[in-house]
Amino acid sequence: MAKLTGAEVARHNTKDSCWVIVHGKAYDVTEFLPEHPGGAGIILKYAGKDATAEYEPIHPPDTLDKYLDKSKHLGEVDMSTVEKEEQVKDPSEIEREERIKRMPPLSQCYNLLDFEAVARQVMKKTAWAYYSSGADDEITMRENHNAFHKIWFRPRVLVDVEKVDFSTTMLGTKVAAPFYITATALGKLGHPEGEVVLTRAAYKHNVIQMIPTLASCSFDEIVDARQGDQVQWLQLYVNKDREITKRIVQHAEKRGCKALFITVDAPQLGRREKDMRVKFSDTGASVQQSTGGSAVDRSQGAARAISSFIDPSLSWKDIPWFRSITKMPILLKGVQCVEDVLRAIEAGVDGVVLSNHGGRQLDTAPSGIEILAEVMPILRERNWQDKLEIYIDGGIRRATDIIKALCLGAKGVGIGRPFLYAMSTYGLDGVDRAMQLLKDEMEMNMRLIGATSIKDLHPGLLDLRGLQSGHHAVVPGDTLSLNVYDPLQSPRFNEKAKL
Ligand code: LAC
Repeated sequence: MAKLTGAEVARHNTKDSCWVIVHGKAYDVTEFLPEHPGGAGIILKYAGKDATAEYEPIHPPDTLDKYLDKSKHLGEVDMSTVEKEEQVKDPSEIEREERIKRMPPLSQCYNLLDFEAVARQVMKKTAWAYYSSGADDEITMRENHNAFHKIWFRPRVLVDVEKVDFSTTMLGTKVAAPFYITATALGKLGHPEGEVVLTRAAYKHNVIQMIPTLASCSFDEIVDARQGDQVQWLQLYVNKDREITKRIVQHAEKRGCKALFITVDAPQLGRREKDMRVKFSDTGASVQQSTGGSAVDRSQGAARAISSFIDPSLSWKDIPWFRSITKMPILLKGVQCVEDVLRAIEAGVDGVVLSNHGGRQLDTAPSGIEILAEVMPILRERNWQDKLEIYIDGGIRRATDIIKALCLGAKGVGIGRPFLYAMSTYGLDGVDRAMQLLKDEMEMNMRLIGATSIKDLHPGLLDLRGLQSGHHAVVPGDTLSLNVYDPLQSPRFNEKAKL
C-alpha cells in the first residue's frame, strides 16, 4: 500500500475530520475526540500533524490498538513529506538544555535528595511539575519527609556488628533490602524507556518492583523486562468497568505478578496545582484557539487527564469480589488510620500500605510513619500484629527512615519519586547508584544502632516522644538560626559544557 503523504494528513486538521500521526502512522481520531480522557483540545492541537512527542510519554504503546477501531488506522506516512514544525523554543527550555550539558557527574550524588536537586534543574518543566507536585498546599507532601525527624534513635553499643544482614522477606519473597520500588505513573516523562529502566535496576539489586496501572510502558513490556526469578507486584486503579479490572488482574496473575495492591486513597485524584499551572501556561492558549474558543479544560494537568476511569464507588463491599477473581495476595495501598487497618484485617486482606500517595491526595493527611506508630501498639495489644503485612511509603529518603519504619513493625517501605528522579537524570546508572547508596546507608546505620539483622529491630530502639508534638504546617525554626545555618550543598553543575 502506498504511504500517505504529509500533505494528505495535513488536510484533516479540524474537529470534523481530524487525523494525527503517531510513530509514522496516521490515525483518524475524529469520532474518538469526545471520548479522549485528556480532552479533545489537546488532540486538535496536533490535528493534521505529527503528535508523537506529546503522545509518547502518556500513552502505553498498545493504546491505539486497544481503544481505536482498526478501521481508523490509516497506515504508514512517508515521514520525509511531513513538514517539520518550526519549534520556537521557550528561553527556559534553552537554559534547561544548556544545564543538561553541565550536569554534575553521577559520582557527585551522595544521597537520594541529590538526584532530586539535579532533576529539578534538568527535567522538562511539565515532567518535573507532574512528578514533584503534591496536593493543595503540599503540606502533607513535605510532612511525609519531616515526620521521620520527629523520631530519634536509642542506639545500643558494644554489639558485635562485624556482619550485618539487612535482607528480609516481603509476602514470602526474599529480598536484598527492606525497600521496594513503589508504583508511580508516566515513567516516560522522565526517561524515554520508561518503567523498564526501574525493572532492570530492581533486578540488579534484588528488590521488588510494583508495576503501576498508569505506566507509560505497557504492562507486558514491564513484565517482559523481568530477568531470572525477579518478582513484581501489580498496583491497581479500579476501573468503573469491572470486566476491564478483572482482565487486568487475571492477566497480571497469569504473567506471574505475585501480589495485588489496590489503591484505595484516590477515588478522585487530588489537585496538584504545580501540574495544573504548567499545563495551563504550556497549552492553554493554543488549545482555546484551535477549538474556536470552546471550553476545553486542559488546566487540570496530566494527572486528571489520565485518571477519569477510576471508580469512586469502590468500597469495602468489593473486597470479596477481588478475592473471587484472583489467588494473588491482596493488599490495600493508601490506608490512613487505625480504624481502617482493623477493618482491613476483618476484611481478610493480606496487607496494607500506610500511605497518603506521596502527599498527592488529601492534604494534611498524616504520614505513613506516624500512622504506623499509632497502629502497631494497638495491633500488639490484640496480638494481631502477624495478621497482615504492613508497609509504608512517603517521604523516605534515608536508610535511617527505613530503619525507623522497621523498628516500629513495618515489613518494608516503598520508594517512588527518588527512583524516578534518579532515572530522569542519570538513567539506569542513576537508579543503580541510588539503590546502592541506600544499601550502604543501611549497612552503616544498622551497625551504628547495634543491630545485625532485621529481626534485631524493635520499638525499644526508638524515642517516639517527638511524635506527641503534633503537626505544624511550617517547619518551626527561629529565623536567626535559619540565617546562620550553612546549608548542605547539592551537586554542583560544571562551569562549562562537556564537549
Ligand atoms: C498520581 C496517580 C496517577 O498520583 O497515581 O498522579
